[in-house]
Amino acid sequence: MENAQNILSWYITAGIETICGDEPYNALQKNETSENVGQTINMPKTVENIGKTNVRPATTLLAQENSAACANAKELCTKAQTLEDLKAIMENFTGCSLKFSANSTVFGSGNPQAEIMLIGEAPGADEDRMGEPFVGRSGQLLNKMLAAISVKREDCYITNVLPWRPPGNRTPTDAETAVCLPFLHRQIELIKPKIIFLLGASAANAVLGKADSISDMRGHFIEYTLPNGDSIPTLAGYHPAFLLRSPAQKAKAWSDLMRLQRKLEDL
Ligand code: URA
Repeated sequence: MENAQNILSWYITAGIETICGDEPYNALQKNETSENVGQTINMPKTVENIGKTNVRPATTLLAQENSAACANAKELCTKAQTLEDLKAIMENFTGCSLKFSANSTVFGSGNPQAEIMLIGEAPGADEDRMGEPFVGRSGQLLNKMLAAISVKREDCYITNVLPWRPPGNRTPTDAETAVCLPFLHRQIELIKPKIIFLLGASAANAVLGKADSISDMRGHFIEYTLPNGDSIPTLAGYHPAFLLRSPAQKAKAWSDLMRLQRKLEDL
């Protein structure tokens, strides 16, 4: 019994939280009964096979599926005229596999007329359980960070790049981020905040379309351009979860908060 508990807790630590079937199987093996004959997800057995007829590497098919899901997400998002519409669309959207392992679709929360919008990476375990962004330990630190610059959390709008928790809190893949981005872009358009504070590298890279480290991005104002050409200043800073692990970086986080406060005073 104790052994079984140890094995289960090891799986959970490794991010394996979902049981897909009773028996292990080879997901790469050709499925002769598949209805998609000619499109089977059939990995090439040898390097020489690559590029030959009838061989379609799984990655190609997945990339095609992902780009179709991205196009679908974009189209659906343009139909949302309100945050409520967008939330309903997101809750019904099935183009991101993270949805199937998550307990909740964690939509943004807070003041829809907020001047400040805060964007994190993705829900963690507490957020997934409660269906609200930043309610766990990171959220508690975030509340203190906001209070330190006299900003009330209830005056802000808080959301994440991804509304579904990646298993084991792993970093979201580029494909997962890409398919969820249209929902974030539309949230920004509907809120139209005066300033956006980007929490951590995932949020900063996703919103600004970069692939830089947070150490390089933090502390500078960079404009985010809306589809109508208007722009919103963004400031990137360390994610509260990182600050909980690396308290020595709190001095830099404090200077970013000071910068944010000065900008707010100028608005
Ligand atoms: N980390 C995030 O990026 N978002 C949350 O909502 C919670 C933790």
